[in-house]
Amino acid sequence: MDINRRDLLISSAGVAAALATTTPLSAQNNPQPASLGLEAAPQPGAGSSDISAYEALKNERKIAVINLSSLEPEAQKILPPYSYAYISGGSGDEWTMRQNETAFNRWVIDPHYLAGVKTPDTATRILGSKLSLPVITAPMGGQGIAHALKELPDVQGTNAAGTLYVNSSVSHMSMEEIAAASRGPKWFQIYFPSNRDYARELLQRAKASGFTAIIVTVDSTTFGNRERTIRLGMPSPNLGRGNGVKTPGINANSIGELKVDLNWEDVAFCQKESGLPVIVKGVLTPGLAAEAVKRGCAGVWVSNHGGRAIDHTAPGISALPEIVQVLGGKALVIMDGGIRRGQDVFLALALGAQAVALGRPVLYGMALGGAQGVESVYARLKTELQMVMQLAGTAAIKDINRNYVRKLEG
Ligand SMILES: Cc1cc2nc3c(=O)[nH]c(=O)nc-3n(C[C@H](O)[C@H](O)[C@H](O)COP(=O)(O)O)c2cc1C
Repeated sequence: MDINRRDLLISSAGVAAALATTTPLSAQNNPQPASLGLEAAPQPGAGSSDISAYEALKNERKIAVINLSSLEPEAQKILPPYSYAYISGGSGDEWTMRQNETAFNRWVIDPHYLAGVKTPDTATRILGSKLSLPVITAPMGGQGIAHALKELPDVQGTNAAGTLYVNSSVSHMSMEEIAAASRGPKWFQIYFPSNRDYARELLQRAKASGFTAIIVTVDSTTFGNRERTIRLGMPSPNLGRGNGVKTPGINANSIGELKVDLNWEDVAFCQKESGLPVIVKGVLTPGLAAEAVKRGCAGVWVSNHGGRAIDHTAPGISALPEIVQVLGGKALVIMDGGIRRGQDVFLALALGAQAVALGRPVLYGMALGGAQGVESVYARLKTELQMVMQLAGTAAIKDINRNYVRKLEG
């Protein structure tokens, strides 16, 4: 039987029973196993929490976004508890997650007034793809917990905003469905599985579906300790696996395991089997960045996984400058973590990123307004970026550089 269909047919009676018998304490003794469902809340066989609520989130409308941070409390009002805990949380004490946002406060923008800039242009190009702004949608697994249409509204909203969608290998829709629904640039992110044949299948399917780059996430070969969901004591909803195995002979039971001892040979495997540019995601040190580029990667993605992997790693914006310096313009640098303002985008670009990625705000926008919600989130960010560029005196994205940013003393 098809795994997606079976998983979607979980009955609400089972849900009620699961809810009635689960307590926060029992969940603390029941840590989640490391598997390819890593960032896709649904774990095969884990039962289901409040599936009717998941099915109810079908919003499709423009939303009024005053700023991106204000989306979270609004989304919290409508998301099922597990979804909100899963999306909003980080690992451990969530220090890194908080620092991702507050570390921007260590930098200030130096505006160049009287520069005669009238209408700044936010358009840019990365790896040959034209974007309406230097912000892309970060890979996020299992988006069915935020909207009944799973990844579809995110893909469509990202397209409508004129930017790039990154498909997580643990998406609820298959990469083929996502590619068919997409009319914009798209990359494929892989959590490298322990089964090499399955890894090959994923990479080849991504290429055949028209994805133009592979993102290898290296910071999550095992679970971060996400205490918000553990404390909640609910089983994750089981919404199936989008990218199940297709090649005859590959053991479907094995595909849920991650390759824990990930290494450079696996990165080379991604390059060889896909024939596409490869970007390493989860880079926080100049040494790793330099090695990636030495080994032929097209770029690095400076990220701590939104504070969801190792707590007490550096915020993205703090790790960025040294990485940019060591690469010396030889490769693409993307940065994410805590991007909530046009100012944050401007600072990251001034410190040398060519683009930044947006995580949680996209999912909150999708929960609140589907594709139009995602588009509204991007529209707000673009307006803020245009405002900052106009005031700071940069007419184009290429004009934003180190002369526009300064580190605060102390
Ligand atoms: C709900 C959720 C799911 C995620 N799933 C993935 C994933 O499947 N693959 C991946 O590389 N990163 C994943 N990430 C990390 C994001 O790609 C990104 O690094 C992070 O969310 C950026 O931080 P921000 O949420 O503060 O914008 C996920 C993040 C969230 C919040």
